[in-house]
Amino acid sequence: MKNIDWKNLTFGYVKTDCNIRCYFKDGKWGPIETSTSETIDIHIAATCLHYGQEAFEGMKAYRGKDNKVRLFRWEENWLRLQRSAEGILMQSVPKEIFKEAISKAVELNQEYIPPYGTGGSLYLRPLLIGTGAKVGVSPADEYLFMVFVTPVGPYFKEGFKPVKMQLIRDFDRAAPQGTGSIKVGGNYAASLRAGQRAQKEGFATAIFADAKTKTYIDEAGPANFFGIRDGKYITPDSESILPSITNMSLRELAADMGLIVERRHVALDELGTFEEAGACGTAAVISPIGMVQDRDNGTVYQYSKDGEAGPWCKKLYARLTGIQYGEEEDKFGWCTVLF
Ligand code: PLP
Ligand code: COI
Repeated sequence: MKNIDWKNLTFGYVKTDCNIRCYFKDGKWGPIETSTSETIDIHIAATCLHYGQEAFEGMKAYRGKDNKVRLFRWEENWLRLQRSAEGILMQSVPKEIFKEAISKAVELNQEYIPPYGTGGSLYLRPLLIGTGAKVGVSPADEYLFMVFVTPVGPYFKEGFKPVKMQLIRDFDRAAPQGTGSIKVGGNYAASLRAGQRAQKEGFATAIFADAKTKTYIDEAGPANFFGIRDGKYITPDSESILPSITNMSLRELAADMGLIVERRHVALDELGTFEEAGACGTAAVISPIGMVQDRDNGTVYQYSKDGEAGPWCKKLYARLTGIQYGEEEDKFGWCTVLF
């Protein structure tokens, strides 16, 4: 085990021992390689540098109560990377290569997996980039798939304490028929200005309204939004948001715990009706939302009066993390024990 201040980890980069790489060249994927270098050497005209041929995933390995190391729903991340690759005409990564690369990246860096009970986890960042040289706008014929890992703590500094979010309408992260539903770098570039402004103005992140009508909730920065009201778990359906694997899991857990699940357009007007609200994602886990302020008219929606998460956020968080850390029965078969 490395000498790391596990309890005070943030969502940042910590160097580990190695990363995994696999090259697609001459129409085929090569061997899975291990590298101790933190840099890559690519062509100056690589399509990832000019035309945004880049997609990534975010997943975590958890050290459990039983000291076993688990991955959560990794096949869903692979499926989403397939969709991302198809969406921007990249070569897709075969399932076996994905599985071997993520498993190796965790195994070879196992001393960086935070101990059980510290609240940390090992974040895995698989990424796929177009490396072939092109000057005209067209897809590359060479690709590089990589996986690096880094130990992380909470995404928002508040951890599982309620965060403040800012509802905005003057920036869009993705267009309705654009790339919002896949995990490509361009969406994040498009979200940077709104995110940084929200932080400067005192919020954890921005909540985007739908780009077309500005009447629905899209996403809460790098996470999906959900609200709880009258025994219902309500979460946006939108063609411009990322289908979150965490949200998919929470919908199943919510239903299992007796909530009615609604996945549909969620009107901005409904913000005033929720008893609880939260943002969910691999990095964010569940970040309870304490308040949302509308940047255009100043309206404040309050979800936490005492600085604590609401009861449903707490229950859903406990159930989800309980499964991920092997504390609770994995009745849906979501975890893969690596070792
Ligand atoms: N929305 C966006 C824009 C994201 O970047 C992420 C993170 O992956 C999520 C939602 C949450 O998705 P998941 O739960 O699959 O991590
Ligand atoms: C994740 O939740 O894994 C993400 O990718 C979100 C963000 C760090 C981009």
